[in-house]
Amino acid sequence: MNESVFRRPVRLTADRTIVRQLTLDDAEALVSIVRTEPEILPQTLQGVHDAEALAHWLTVSVPNGQRFGVSVHLAIADRETDTLVGFLGLFRVDATHDSCEVGYALRQGVRGRGHATEALLLGADWALNDCGLHRIELRTLTDNIASMRVAEKAGFRREGVQRGAGRRQDLVMFSRLATDVPADGPVRLVGIGVGPGDPELVTAKAVRLLQEADVVLVPVLALDEPGRAESVVREYTAKAERVVFALNDRGGVTEKRAAAWDAAAARVLDAFEQGARTVVFATIGDPNVYSTFTYLAQGVRAGRPDVVVETVPGITAMQDLAARSGTVLAEGTESVVLVPLTAGNGTFQDALQTGDTVVAYKFGSRASEVVDALKDAGRLDDAVYGARLGLPGEAVGPAAAIDGPVPYLSTLIVPGRRTSRGGKL
Ligand SMILES: C[S@@+](CC[C@H](N)C(=O)[O-])C[C@H]1O[C@@H](n2cnc3c(N)ncnc32)[C@H](O)[C@@H]1O
Repeated sequence: MNESVFRRPVRLTADRTIVRQLTLDDAEALVSIVRTEPEILPQTLQGVHDAEALAHWLTVSVPNGQRFGVSVHLAIADRETDTLVGFLGLFRVDATHDSCEVGYALRQGVRGRGHATEALLLGADWALNDCGLHRIELRTLTDNIASMRVAEKAGFRREGVQRGAGRRQDLVMFSRLATDVPADGPVRLVGIGVGPGDPELVTAKAVRLLQEADVVLVPVLALDEPGRAESVVREYTAKAERVVFALNDRGGVTEKRAAAWDAAAARVLDAFEQGARTVVFATIGDPNVYSTFTYLAQGVRAGRPDVVVETVPGITAMQDLAARSGTVLAEGTESVVLVPLTAGNGTFQDALQTGDTVVAYKFGSRASEVVDALKDAGRLDDAVYGARLGLPGEAVGPAAAIDGPVPYLSTLIVPGRRTSRGGKL
């Protein structure tokens, strides 16, 4: 750690924000904060009420912390007016491990203007690049979504939850290292499979990318309704942004559908314009199995051919149903045929005649036709069915128990007929 830089006066500037030393000129604003919103004051000022103690903090405690290399309390100011809009502090400075903790708070009326992200970026860059620190820690309450977004935008990475660490409440630990360089190279659009619904059925790679991505998009039916992939994504990152995808529009490429695909592609292209390097789009199950990601990727490629499109595989609903129902999907030489009932009942009936294991998707409203076809083929008794796998209201059971329409999120497995161990080898 370079202590001489740490001790020097600080003045850092971004587009809208200045991070600078606190001075006696800030006293009036400080008094107003003490009166109206004391909860945003730095820890060391909590409970301080009188003018004399405030002046002592400003003129003695803050400079001493910096002089002795243990903390620096700075003002976040509006760049146009230089008025105090919040505080940024680096504390628990540890010269042995070259690490510190960062905290910040903004006044009520100035939130949502980008001051927090700019201030945190300025402070973290200064500590890591100029002061020679190696690691900065940031802790936030697990429900403080806004703070988590700010941390992620400022290049901090989520490490995990510290149980009961903040006045008995759980905290999320983020950190940024001096060696965390932003990835360069081409801009990337990544379709991430997040599995059918159980947040534990997400790959380590998917979690890493969800946390590292600059923008995380989740498809939804309407902006005020949570999406199917969204609840899984929110277990791992606070930065899920909804894009309307007309998911349940029927009848091919409808006008509404095409407009939704175009709008989502435009959002991705805009994110790249704004400087994002990696945009991810989360999709239930696997992104290469009946996923909306395919249409988004085509739209983005058309608008910007240099975008690298990648996918991260996810566990499909049929795999999850196989596991939850104890059904083997394939043995030996057996085929597995996956049929969406939107292709018509005839396709399903043909598969029951020719295929070994048959899996059906997208049959919610046509469940009785499916049951009739199974009966006709003499395969009803072996078939298993699962609805809302891994989600609230999950149901797994024999297909023979299906009675009327079932949820859209329903999957059916008709296993190959097996008579002896290894008989299909
Ligand atoms: C548009 S497809 C998406 C498939 C998904 N990409 C996959 O890899 O499994 C939607 C169909 O997947 C199946 N599905 C997806 N998630 C499911 C879940 N949680 N429970 C049961 N079926 C599910 C249903 O058959 C549903 O109609």
